[in-house]
Amino acid sequence: MIQVGQNSLTLLTLVGLLFSLNWMIAAVLLIATVPGTLIRLRYSQQLYSWQRQRTSTERQAWYFQWMLTGEPHAKEIRLFDLGTLFIERFRNLRSTLRSERLHLATRLVLIDLLTQFASTLAIFYALAYITFQAVQGAITIGDLVMYYQAFQRGQNYLRETLKGLANLYEDSLFLTNLYEFLDLKPRVVTPTSPKVVPQPIQHGISFDHVRFDYPNATHPILDDFTLTIRSGEHIALVAANGAGKTTFVKLLCRLYDPTTGRITIDGIDLREFDPALLRQQISVIFQDYAHYQLTARENIWLGNTTLASLDDKIEQAAHDTGADELIEKLSHGYDTRLGNWFDNSQELSIGEWQKIALARAFVRDAQIIVLDEPTSALDASAEFDVFKKFRELAVGRTTILISHRLSTVRTADCIYVLTNGKITESGSHEDLMQFNGEYARMFELQAGNYR
Ligand SMILES: Nc1ncnc2c1ncn2[C@@H]1O[C@H](COP(=O)(O)OP(=O)(O)OP(=O)(O)O)[C@@H](O)[C@H]1O
Ligand SMILES: [Mg+2]
Repeated sequence: MIQVGQNSLTLLTLVGLLFSLNWMIAAVLLIATVPGTLIRLRYSQQLYSWQRQRTSTERQAWYFQWMLTGEPHAKEIRLFDLGTLFIERFRNLRSTLRSERLHLATRLVLIDLLTQFASTLAIFYALAYITFQAVQGAITIGDLVMYYQAFQRGQNYLRETLKGLANLYEDSLFLTNLYEFLDLKPRVVTPTSPKVVPQPIQHGISFDHVRFDYPNATHPILDDFTLTIRSGEHIALVAANGAGKTTFVKLLCRLYDPTTGRITIDGIDLREFDPALLRQQISVIFQDYAHYQLTARENIWLGNTTLASLDDKIEQAAHDTGADELIEKLSHGYDTRLGNWFDNSQELSIGEWQKIALARAFVRDAQIIVLDEPTSALDASAEFDVFKKFRELAVGRTTILISHRLSTVRTADCIYVLTNGKITESGSHEDLMQFNGEYARMFELQAGNYR
């Protein structure tokens, strides 16, 4: 903007000078540049709307590139020999994008050429006029040089000014993306005067006729879902894949709000708490927990950053989940960077990562602990040890365990079976076995495999 301002000032004086010679010369200078500028503006608009339309194609192309060059898919791409196939798809997408862009650019160049030609003619006329005046003796040779230079420099400044304006226009178009983004309203809203999260929780957590639909979904995941967890109770949730167990946890952490119904802690709707303070009271390990490409110590410490990073509790948590053994074997112990993104880091196995993630959950000083498939990658003895520690750690806290391994679920105070969005069975292991419903069937099925 400053540049445009500066150029305009210089331009004004030059135009004034030319105006003193002949107003038509000044007019020619101005008019000759207008069509080119209008075309540029139109091109900016077209480029912008084209780029917006192509977002999803660009993203698909990027996705193939990411799969082809990244580590997570390297094994399968080699094993299933997917390289050629994916490269082919990537090329098709890119060549569509390239030809569309080329088409746009070619049109611009052609039209630009035409307008350039027109403006060159106009300029030729202006210069011819100045020369004619000199030949006639109306102006001196010195004037000729002055006007000629004024015209030429005026042209340059005008071009720069209009280019600056066109750039500003183009930037403003692309900035609308940012403003649209900033205008998005958060779906999970923090109340203006949030209530204090009960500490300790006196009564418990209640899901009261909760229905939940994911955006654009055809059917609800939870429907008329009612469940009460008393404070300090250890419950387990059992259901088939895709039944909504993880969704239930996300609702409890208020990552989403229910479509209808209420979730309450001691009778207070979760929507009345500050989400950040509510989440402080919950320690979750999701089944797709994060692998932080940071040191082993930081990976655990992130579960509770209120601790000093050298706090003993970090090593204690590692000890409780059996992560300490593997960490001590690393080249720099707790200070070893994990993963394979950076230099001097060490990659772990899936089960080892899971132990670290569990330690992260254990180090958090929360009233509610949720474990979503926490030991799916652990060996049998590691799993046994984790649950032994977990039961010690869980004393006095409310815990929710989600697992397909019914042997780990059976010790819960109350087991809930979720089918078609609702709780269909609940009770202790013995109750449910006696009830002889879905739980008993699944348990027998699993137990049968071991006999
Ligand atoms: N982010 C999402 N957006 C839209 N739909 C989703 C999303 N996450 C899950 N779903 C849908 O919700 C259903 C329940 O998913 P959820 O992850 O809660 O199942 P789950 O019981 O935890 O399954 P699993 O045993 O495989 O972990 C799925 O069938 C899926 O279609
Ligand atoms: Mg799940």
